[in-house]
Amino acid sequence: MNGDFPAGGLRVRPAVASDLAVLARIEERCFDSDRISRRQFRYLMTRGHAALLVVEQAGRPIGDAVLLFSRATSVARLYSIAVDPDARGRGAAVALMKAAEREAWKHRRAYLRLEVRKDNRPAVKLYESLGYRRLGEFPDYYADHMDAWRLEKSLAPELHPELAAVPFYEQSLEFTCGPAALMMAMKSLTPELELSRQLELRLWREATTIFMTSGHGGCGPYGLALAAASRGYRVEVHVSEQGTHLGDSVRSEQKREVMRLVQEDMYQQLQALGVPIRHAGLDVAEIERCLAGGGIPLVLISSWQIYKARVPHWVVVTGTDESFVYVNDPFVDREEGETLIDSIHMPILKERFKSMARYGRAGLQAMVVLYDK
Ligand SMILES: CC(C)(COP(=O)(O)OP(=O)(O)OC[C@H]1O[C@@H](n2cnc3c(N)ncnc32)[C@H](O)[C@@H]1OP(=O)(O)O)[C@@H](O)C(=O)NCCC(=O)NCCS
Repeated sequence: MNGDFPAGGLRVRPAVASDLAVLARIEERCFDSDRISRRQFRYLMTRGHAALLVVEQAGRPIGDAVLLFSRATSVARLYSIAVDPDARGRGAAVALMKAAEREAWKHRRAYLRLEVRKDNRPAVKLYESLGYRRLGEFPDYYADHMDAWRLEKSLAPELHPELAAVPFYEQSLEFTCGPAALMMAMKSLTPELELSRQLELRLWREATTIFMTSGHGGCGPYGLALAAASRGYRVEVHVSEQGTHLGDSVRSEQKREVMRLVQEDMYQQLQALGVPIRHAGLDVAEIERCLAGGGIPLVLISSWQIYKARVPHWVVVTGTDESFVYVNDPFVDREEGETLIDSIHMPILKERFKSMARYGRAGLQAMVVLYDK
């Protein structure tokens, strides 16, 4: 990591062995119990899934931060932060936190999470002023029975400002992810468009293949493309198979036949409108090509890996980088304590996205891309 020099001649850098004695002394001056020992510092400094950062002033270490990277998640954890009492109030903790966020980002973590005592006013204020928000609380978390706040920050908006500014719309019904995703894409191309539940339902009625309460109830790629094309947007459809999409859940042959007919009719209407339909598999490179051309891709995913429910689900891709595909997910899992922030620019590791962007036994891959009118 390159050291940086914010105001006050502060510099943040990775710890080296000769810092450890000073860091252990800072621990003693900062905490009454649960201190990190010199030995533990050494272990944290050398083991692969942790980072130990030191802030120094005039060449003297005055504080440190410890980050942990648990395996296979997008979350880094701030395990500890401390600034020597004589050096407080000069921005050392802010400098450490910013460096910790960049370090987490370098380790392909899109969130930084931490716990803090509810009565630690300086620390709570520090985190909240940096944009951390309360995810939950742990009652009786510390040895003296004090409760903890669990805080989290999504790092993408600050460290990744080039993500497309796709306005967010939350689906208001279980089966309207497709219309909600379409509304986000339309609004990003047509800022004056008013988003309402009425539009959500109108789009759903135009795009669904539902028949007599059979089927998933949601919308397929042709229906969504047709709803967009008939409003004047340039649209492109990518589907990996030509059979009846999303018919897996329908047992009755007669009902599947109706779904097939509706879908075929949508297909013909799309052809009459000159909408290109590509029958091919879908990969991240293809999504990136569409983004680079100014398109807003709606991608069908199986929500199994996120919500443990095997339902087809539409999300809007807002950008990609080396590690992640970012999506606006119209579903906000409020029962799990999520808020809108969790669903905006939600990072999904590229490897994971590949296995998520397919649905059903047949592994249907589908994407509808909207372009300016
Ligand atoms: C929390 C701690 C790391 C802050 O270090 P610091 O270098 O003094 O913090 P900074 O100078 O960077 O201050 C940044 C912000 O933190 C908050 N803050 C820091 N000290 C504060 C205090 N005494 N009271 C209220 N807010 C305070 C403020 O929001 C401040 O911004 P401002 O100066 O614009 O108001 C330091 O007090 C410390 O080491 N405490 C003991 C260890 C600890 O509690 N660690 C956190 C465990 S979760």
